[in-house]
Amino acid sequence: MTDKIPSEQRQRVEELHQILQRANYQYYVLDNPELPDAEYDRRLRELQELEKEHPQLISPDSPTQRVGAEPLKAFAEVHHEVPMLSLDNAFNDEELQEFDRRVRDRLNTSEPVEYACEPKLDGIAISILYRNGLLERAATRGDGTTGEDITQNVRTIGSVPLRLLDNGVPEVLEVRGEIYMPKAGFAELNRKAAEAGEKTFVNPRNAAAGSLRQLDSRITAQRPLELCVYGVGQVAGATLPDRHTEILQQLNRWGFRINSEMAAASDIDACIAYHHKLGDKRGELAYDIDGIVFKVNDTALQRRLGFVARAPRWAMAYKFPAQEEMTVLKDVEFQVGRTGAVTPVARLEPVFVGGVTVSNATLHNRDEIERLGVKIGDTVVIRRAGDVIPQVVSVVASKRPEDARAIVFPDHCPVCDSPVESTPGEAVARCSGGLICSAQRKQAIKHFASRKAMDIDGLGDKLVEQLVDEGLLHSVSGLFHLKLDELVELERMGQKSAQNLLDALERSKDTTLPKFLYALGIREVGEATARNLARHFGDLEPLMQADEDALQEVEDVGPVVAHFVAEFFQQTHAQEEIEALRQAGVHWQPEEQGGSDQPLAGQTWVLTGKLETLSRSEGKDYLQRLGAKVAGSVSANTDSVVAGPGAGSKLNKARELDIPVLDEEEFLEMLRERGIEI
Ligand code: IVH
Repeated sequence: MTDKIPSEQRQRVEELHQILQRANYQYYVLDNPELPDAEYDRRLRELQELEKEHPQLISPDSPTQRVGAEPLKAFAEVHHEVPMLSLDNAFNDEELQEFDRRVRDRLNTSEPVEYACEPKLDGIAISILYRNGLLERAATRGDGTTGEDITQNVRTIGSVPLRLLDNGVPEVLEVRGEIYMPKAGFAELNRKAAEAGEKTFVNPRNAAAGSLRQLDSRITAQRPLELCVYGVGQVAGATLPDRHTEILQQLNRWGFRINSEMAAASDIDACIAYHHKLGDKRGELAYDIDGIVFKVNDTALQRRLGFVARAPRWAMAYKFPAQEEMTVLKDVEFQVGRTGAVTPVARLEPVFVGGVTVSNATLHNRDEIERLGVKIGDTVVIRRAGDVIPQVVSVVASKRPEDARAIVFPDHCPVCDSPVESTPGEAVARCSGGLICSAQRKQAIKHFASRKAMDIDGLGDKLVEQLVDEGLLHSVSGLFHLKLDELVELERMGQKSAQNLLDALERSKDTTLPKFLYALGIREVGEATARNLARHFGDLEPLMQADEDALQEVEDVGPVVAHFVAEFFQQTHAQEEIEALRQAGVHWQPEEQGGSDQPLAGQTWVLTGKLETLSRSEGKDYLQRLGAKVAGSVSANTDSVVAGPGAGSKLNKARELDIPVLDEEEFLEMLRERGIEI
C-alpha cells in the first residue's frame, strides 16, 4: 500500500517535517522565531492535506500530531527506573552556607565547590523518555517510584520535541523537567474562563496541574503549557558531559528549552548573590518561581555525594518567601473608586506573604465574594506575587468558626449614601452619587492631577484628600481657584510648598488635548483612546457634539466606549466643569486632524538577538507604542532592525538588503528621544 505514494510526496512530507520542526525549535526553545506565523500555518496546512490524502504518511512525530487524541479512560502506571527525587529546602543564607559546608566536609575539601544555579519553576515535575530520538512516553513524578502515563497530554505541548534534533542522540534518553504555565497564559485562560462563567484557577501551578490531569488531551492542547528541562534520568548509548550546566546545554542542542537564567557559580557566596539577584527579578519573570535550585556542578562529585532518603546530598532548593499564606478575614470594608465602583476590601489578621506584611486584600466584587463563598471570620489563603495587589484566593472550609458572618454588600454608598446600582451583565456595583460623592470626587481629582493627565507637581493623593475633607475643594476646576492663604492654613503645608503648588497649577494650564481628555476621567478612555479621539476630531467642540455613530468612526472606539464618551459630554455637570476649566485658563493647541503623533507609524521593525536592558517583548511593546509594526522576519519592507548579540540570519539579511541596523544602545537612545521612559 505504501509503495503507491509518489516519492515526491513522501519527500515533501519529510521536508515539511523538517521545516516545521526547525520553526518550532526556533520559536519555543530559542525564543527567536524565523518563520512568520502565516508561513508556518501554510506549511502546516500543506502537510495536513498530504496526510489526509495519504494517511500512511502520518508518523507519530509529525508536527500535525499535537492537537490531542481520543480521551482515555484512565492513566496507566509508569515505573521510574531512576527514582524521581525531591529536594531539601533552605530558607536563609545561613542554611545555604551550611549545605555548602556539609558538601565540602563529605568531599573532604577546603576548596570552593562550583554550583549550577537554576530558578525553581513552580509547575509539575515530568519525565519524558526518548528512544532513538523519538518521544516514547511521558510520566508524572507520582510518589517518585511510580507515576502516571500522560504521554498523550505532553505531546500536545509545543516546547516538547516529538523528535530530537541533531545527530548522535542517545539510544535512550530520559529528560526530567518542569511543565508550567507562564503568567500571561494563565491570566488569559482565567479571563476566558470567567467570561464563559466557568471556574477559574487559583494560580498558574494549579492550572498546569489541572491541564495535565485531563483524560481528554484535546483540552490539554488548548492550554498554554511549556516545558523546561533541568536534568536527566536514564541514558544509554551516549556519554554526557561531566558538568551539569553542560549537560543542560547539550539537551538544549537536542531541542529542549532550558532556563535562560541558568548560570554556574564558582562558590557559595556567588550562589547567595545569584539568589538575591533573582529574588529582585522574580516579579518580572514570565513564570512563577518559588526559589533557586543549587546543584554541585561536577557530576563525578554528585556521584560521590549520593542521596539521603529521597533527596540528593548534592542539591538544595533555597526558597523565596512564600507567595501564599493563610490568615483570618476579620472584616470587609467597601471602598469607592473614581467611577463609583464599590470594591470590597478584606481586612486581615496581618500575615507575612511575598516578602511583606499584608493586612488588606481585594475581594474585587460581589461575584467574587460569591465564587469564593467567603464569610467574615473565615481562614483564607492570601496570595501576593511581586507588586501585585494581594488577593484572597480561597477559603479553608474546615476552619470556618461557628460564628462566621455573611458579607453583606451595601445597597447604599458607604461614603455618600446614594443608592448603589449594578448594570446587568456587569460584575461591578457602582455608587450612583457621581461627583456628589466625596470618594469619587477625590479619585477624580487625583486622576486629573496625575502625571499622564494634567501633571500637577506636588499635588499628591494625601493633599487631595485633605483639601476635599477640609471643604476647600469640590471639583477639578476648583483646583485653579485655590488661594495661598487657604493653603498655608493646612496642616504640614508651609508658605514655600503652597506657592510651589500654585506655580505648578499655573504651569499645568498649558496642556495638550489628549492629556486634557485623559484627565477628564471618562470611563474606558485611557491614554491611547484619548489620543485617538483628539487626532480624529482635532479639537474639543466637535468631539463634544459627536453622537455615538460619529464616535465609533474613531480608531479603536467601539459601541461601549462611544456610549461612555457621548454620555459624559451630555452631562450638564461635565459641560459646566469644562467651561470652568477653560475660564480658569486651561488651554491647548488644536491637534492636527487625522495626523499622527506616533513617530514610527507606518514603519516595520524587526528585533533579533539578545537584548541586555530590555526583554524582547518590552522592546516590541515600546515600538508598538510609537506606532511601529514589529515583524518576525526581515524583508524588503523592513525599515529598521535592532540586533543584539547572537543575531544571525536576520542580521545578515538586513545587511544584504541595506536596511539600517541599530545595536541596543542606539535603540534605547532612539526610544528615549521619542519620549519613552526606560
Ligand atoms: S532538580 C534530584 N531542578 O522542584 C533533583 N527540580 O522537590 C531533583 N523543580 O518537584 C529536582 N525546578 O520538579 C530540580 N531547576 C530545577 C527545578 C526543580 C523545579 C521542582 C521539581 C520537584 C521539586 C523538587
